[in-house]
Amino acid sequence: MGYVDKRGREMMMVNTDNPLHTPDLDPMYISIPFFILLSPKKPAIGFFINSTSYSFFKINDDTYTISVKDEGIEIYAIYGPKIDDVITHFTGMVGRMEMPPAWSIGYQQSRWSYSTDEEALDVARRMRKDSIPCDVLYLDIDYMDGYRVFTWGKNFPDPKKFVSEMKEIGFKVVTIVDPGVKIDENYAVYKSGKSIDAFVKDRYGKEFTGYVWPGKCSFPDFLRPDVREWWSTSHKVLFDAGVEGIWNDMNEPAIVWTDAQMDKVKNILGKGEINFQLLGEAKAVFAQEDHGDEIIHKDENGERWPHYKVRNIYAYLEAIATSRAFELYRPGKRPFLLTRAGFAGIQKYAAVWTGDNSSWWEHLEAEIAISIGLGLSGVSFTGTDVGGFGGNSNGELLARWTEMGVFFPFFRNHSAIGTVHQEPWAFGEKIEKIIKKYITLRYELFPHMYTAFHSAHENGVPIMRPLFFIDQDNPDLYSINDEFLFGDSLLIAPITKPNTMWRSVYIPKGRWIDMRNGKIYEEDHVYKIDAPLDEIPIFVKENSMIFRTDPMNYIFEKEKMTLYVDVYGQEGRGYLYEDDGETLEYKKGGYNLYEFAVGSDMKGYTLSFKAKHHGYAGRYEKITMNFINAPRKIANINLNGKKVNAYFDGNILKVEFEIKDAT
Ligand code: GLC
Repeated sequence: MGYVDKRGREMMMVNTDNPLHTPDLDPMYISIPFFILLSPKKPAIGFFINSTSYSFFKINDDTYTISVKDEGIEIYAIYGPKIDDVITHFTGMVGRMEMPPAWSIGYQQSRWSYSTDEEALDVARRMRKDSIPCDVLYLDIDYMDGYRVFTWGKNFPDPKKFVSEMKEIGFKVVTIVDPGVKIDENYAVYKSGKSIDAFVKDRYGKEFTGYVWPGKCSFPDFLRPDVREWWSTSHKVLFDAGVEGIWNDMNEPAIVWTDAQMDKVKNILGKGEINFQLLGEAKAVFAQEDHGDEIIHKDENGERWPHYKVRNIYAYLEAIATSRAFELYRPGKRPFLLTRAGFAGIQKYAAVWTGDNSSWWEHLEAEIAISIGLGLSGVSFTGTDVGGFGGNSNGELLARWTEMGVFFPFFRNHSAIGTVHQEPWAFGEKIEKIIKKYITLRYELFPHMYTAFHSAHENGVPIMRPLFFIDQDNPDLYSINDEFLFGDSLLIAPITKPNTMWRSVYIPKGRWIDMRNGKIYEEDHVYKIDAPLDEIPIFVKENSMIFRTDPMNYIFEKEKMTLYVDVYGQEGRGYLYEDDGETLEYKKGGYNLYEFAVGSDMKGYTLSFKAKHHGYAGRYEKITMNFINAPRKIANINLNGKKVNAYFDGNILKVEFEIKDAT
């Protein structure tokens, strides 16, 4: 939790399921022992503490205290001088994200739980009926047989048929997988795990157990390669049904209760069963306990590792096993894994969501700094439970949260059991219309966003950025936690409070143009910007290009796509990346990279359009360039030296050509 500027904070690196996100909460689900020193007119320097052990950070103005529960400590100092250089170098060490499947950039719908196949299909069908674009539907724990991982329960009698019905209407299914394996001698996964001695032990050599959703569980020791291989192959039952993505939760690992705690909470829960309605009450009885010295892991050489040394990579190792499962059962296809916990470098394997927030305005705002922080730490593909997980959402909150969620790299609506439903239609027509407008915008911006993902893949620089990326020498920007950048050229200023129809917006270096109306704003000023409920202020940096396409129900619904290039200013250069969005061919040159350049003089515009790389058949065909705020007197427009078709549509000058015109 907390703001982007960490001065004055103390932070612990111990992956922990701490579900009530209060402002001072620490530790949280994920540990990335990395921070960046930034001050005006000085080079940015990153510090990475390369230890998976528990560590502790105290950051003051001029003293930084770092303690690590380990013998010896390895610290890397990473010189910028620009902040993006620091992140490029850091991710060069710990790894960068792969190109995700294109569909995972679409809107995703989840809930704990859509617990029957019919219920899940109904949600998907309603999306299509109401023309709300959506690519993914999540199955939370209730698809399983008594919460036993790698099983399908009776509410999903024919998973293959269910998944294929979802596919027919353009939906992918992602299933949750928790690490706790129910102790049950009649359960194949527990038995096969036991047969290879897969589970972690306490220091006396006894299987360590704890209570999670299925009741009493054992926990795989992912430190061992054979255990990871067993875990990978256990995914077959999900991939055989056609599931396309995996969601790793509770992988800090989280235990809802230890054995001793279970004895005490039995009274609240009754009969020792987990009753979700009473969960909050029972959970509040205990703070998370530290099992750091009590549990012992063993690697393939038989070396013993106390839990505190490896807890922070438990989820990371699980992610390695899961990525192997994708290789085994979906060869040649890009994996999609979502995780809650992780360690530095987790982005190589997974997208990260920020866990169990609540349907509070305070959390809508807090998620900005949390996701920015993850991005600065190398994790680009991040997002939050849109609408809030715990507590009851409401129409206004969901509308505002969806407007903002469009510009988070990972865009999923998710809510907890026992809370009111928060699908886009849950709060009536007026709210649904707003939500639909913004989810549609996300799909229109797909070409732009996909290109931003590609940059993150190439150089590790986050997709969602703090404003000081524009000017790291301006200290005023260090404390802005309620505006953010998407890529190089979009500034987003969400409304983060109820009953609020305007906000003040700080405009950083350069001139920025309101995407809604073309109005120009000058640098280093604060403006009062209107934002009725159906609008979020979005500004485009002058002299940049925004790439759009036509609305669609799901990514790649149509074989061919039109490309719109919106030019904000009289000159500039923009790049567009595309590939098949599905296979690994892009690694072998199977992609296209286009360069658009605009220059202007008194006589008119000179445009150039180049294919810097052409290695994929491509989906884009026709191109329309829209010049926002173009001067009326345009005499000459040349594309690659030849005259092109151009006309005014209202205030916008349009120029039309085709992909095949690229030189
Ligand atoms: C955890 C997850 C949440 C999920 C729930 C049930 O609280 O963070 O997203 O819905 O478990 O699986």
